[in-house]
Amino acid sequence: MIQPIVIGNWKMNGNLLANETLLEALLSSLEKLEDVQVAVCPPLPYLAQVAQHLKDNPVALGAQTLNEHEAGAHTGEVSAAMLKDLGCQYVLVGHSERRSLYGESDIAVTAKFAAAQAAGLAPVLCVGETLAERNCGDTEAVVARQLQAVVDTLGIEALSGGVIAYEPVWAIGTGETATPDQAQAVHAFIREWLARHSAPLAARLPLLYGGSVKADNAAALFAQPDIDGGLIGGASLSPNSFANICRAAEHR
Ligand code: PGA
Repeated sequence: MIQPIVIGNWKMNGNLLANETLLEALLSSLEKLEDVQVAVCPPLPYLAQVAQHLKDNPVALGAQTLNEHEAGAHTGEVSAAMLKDLGCQYVLVGHSERRSLYGESDIAVTAKFAAAQAAGLAPVLCVGETLAERNCGDTEAVVARQLQAVVDTLGIEALSGGVIAYEPVWAIGTGETATPDQAQAVHAFIREWLARHSAPLAARLPLLYGGSVKADNAAALFAQPDIDGGLIGGASLSPNSFANICRAAEHR
């Protein structure tokens, strides 16, 4: 049995006051939540603020990106060790916005994944196809390529301790969610792909779905056998919606 995980990706949103208001409401709504690991990924400048609010609370801290180098002349960048230092447990790697807007290749994503893992963070490897790729019937090939890039370089056991998030690009921030069946089909494919490399790993690696998950569609998605939780963008900015999504993952 894989413990469900729900991760909020705040993207480039928030400020000191708004973060405080959001966290206060969220933490009180989540007080009696059981058996779900919840994490929030604020923008980098707010990690310390959010870490302070999450002290003594089971909600974990995550970051949205990192640099693959350990230290040095990388103006504007943030290392895995710095994220760890600030109390992060998770870091997103290869989010489609990083891939498409900031040119992160499979090679760069792999290097970031390795850096996160070496620092003791749980990398959340994001994979997913564009609408054009889906329409050409290439969904599985794209997802397999993105997984293969990491596994070829780092080995299958590198995924251990990490998380995979399937996020179809056409569903991110569009309001168009993959249907539970569409999402489950890709999750099952990912699980099988992993099992071909290591059955024990496939059985224990959390596979999250992301892409327009809302309070009213979360339960149906999380009820799928291979969906172990969600990576939530827009809806994670509303404490009520996010708390309801977390509840939908309870006792799945
Ligand atoms: P969304 O974003 O929930 O707003 O679609 C998901 C994500 O980008 O992780």
